[in-house]
Amino acid sequence: MKFFIDTANLNEIKEAYDLGVLDGVTTNPSLMAKEGISGEANVKAHYKAICDIVDDNVSAEVIATDYEGMIREGKELAKIDNKIVVKIPMIKDGIKAIKYFHNEGIRTNCTLIFSAGQAILAAKAGASFVSPFVGRLDDISFDGIDLIEQIVNIYANYGFATQVLAASVRHSMHLIKCAEVGADVVTCPLKVITGLLKHPLTDSGLAQFLADHAKAAGK
Ligand code: G3P
Repeated sequence: MKFFIDTANLNEIKEAYDLGVLDGVTTNPSLMAKEGISGEANVKAHYKAICDIVDDNVSAEVIATDYEGMIREGKELAKIDNKIVVKIPMIKDGIKAIKYFHNEGIRTNCTLIFSAGQAILAAKAGASFVSPFVGRLDDISFDGIDLIEQIVNIYANYGFATQVLAASVRHSMHLIKCAEVGADVVTCPLKVITGLLKHPLTDSGLAQFLADHAKAAGK
């Protein structure tokens, strides 16, 4: 299972990378705006800075929603670094753009997936990743994890090479449930990754070990 961090914050990306468990980064226009990044040159420089931290898999999203615009922007993004995966929204022109990039050998991540049908279409077009949004489905009383499981099963039935990238993963249980149903990748904030570290019995057990050691050493 791959771990991607869902942020455009360079410090958080560095912290997750230094932990030694990070396989990639996902961004979106909202996350870039949160970091105050705007303007073509700044956006490109920021993606390059992210690529310089991690080993691979940096999703960079197009803003255009028409076919020609997505192709133009996607090509520019792909030129920044070989680690870039062009992120394309799940719309009709987006599917055509994914097919185009597939034929050109440029990796894509089809985002804003909320149904199995959308995931099938993206896989047929040759998306490298699909991003179903777990938390946002939970928000409207649909089970996001059920969708991940459904897509994983469908892709296995047909041997699709598209990887299921569970997005909008908001807490540790989301991540663990994604692992149980076989998501290829999860993307989540840093706190979800570091949250996996925590258990009160680990803390109290370690405190006891250290206290016993100090006692035996006569401290
Ligand atoms: O990866 C998609 C993600 O950024 C959306 O997360 O928490 O805004 O639904 P959220």
